[in-house]
Amino acid sequence: MSDTLSPIDTAKFVAAKRAVGFVEDGMKLGLGTGSTAAWMVRLLAERVRNEGLRITGVPTSTRTAELARQQGLRVMSLDEAKWLDLTIDGADEFDVELNLIKGGGGALLQEKIVATASDQMIVISDVSKQVDTLGAFPLPVEVIPFGWQTTKALVEETLVSMDVLGQHSTLRMNGDTPYFTDEGNHIIDLHLQRIGNARQLALILNQIPGVVENGLFIDICDVVVIGHGDGRVETHDINSGETTEDLVQFADSENIFADID
Ligand code: A5P
Repeated sequence: MSDTLSPIDTAKFVAAKRAVGFVEDGMKLGLGTGSTAAWMVRLLAERVRNEGLRITGVPTSTRTAELARQQGLRVMSLDEAKWLDLTIDGADEFDVELNLIKGGGGALLQEKIVATASDQMIVISDVSKQVDTLGAFPLPVEVIPFGWQTTKALVEETLVSMDVLGQHSTLRMNGDTPYFTDEGNHIIDLHLQRIGNARQLALILNQIPGVVENGLFIDICDVVVIGHGDGRVETHDINSGETTEDLVQFADSENIFADID
């Protein structure tokens, strides 16, 4: 089946496929958002159908909730689930310490709450998102709509004293109107180019009035599964320090491609 997918989609697919292999019967799972996480939801549903796994999913966005329900997964809210065994999600960038930038898809707030409420977080990614230093991908910051221009100015002012290369920020748009998150907030993207001290920046951004959350995930991710276009996957576990490499087979997943455009 891999010849029906581009190398980048193959990489996302194999990473997702390897990661759902970590799911065990009875688990409560955080379901991430984005194109890589969408593969994970489909592959998880395939395991539920084929193996009769009893799992419950807590989606991190309305998009993921819709897909999970459509795929026949049992879905509940985080308040119902209370605590999760595992969250599997994508990322926009990750570094060697498995610190992340997330929120390119606008779901960073629910993603961070859900990942933090999980025993373990696995990030699934193609290799292009692996970086030496975070910051080339614009850092999303979720802000409440009230006074957002003032909040944006305060954020930019704060960046002057931070260890970053750029200080420019933009309001995320959806066509001609500001983008709204699932929580009814806006997103300001910070074009920092290089973040010298991600831990410090994450803490300071959240102290600015009007900022709800930022897309830096520090000490949250435990494992990254990196997919390659030839079907290889590398799995790095930050806690054990172990790295493994596998080759993911496609044949048994052919049915999940049926309804993909
Ligand atoms: C969603 O808000 C993001 O955090 C996504 O997890 C991230 O943008 C990765 O998305 P893709 O898997 O589509 O690249």
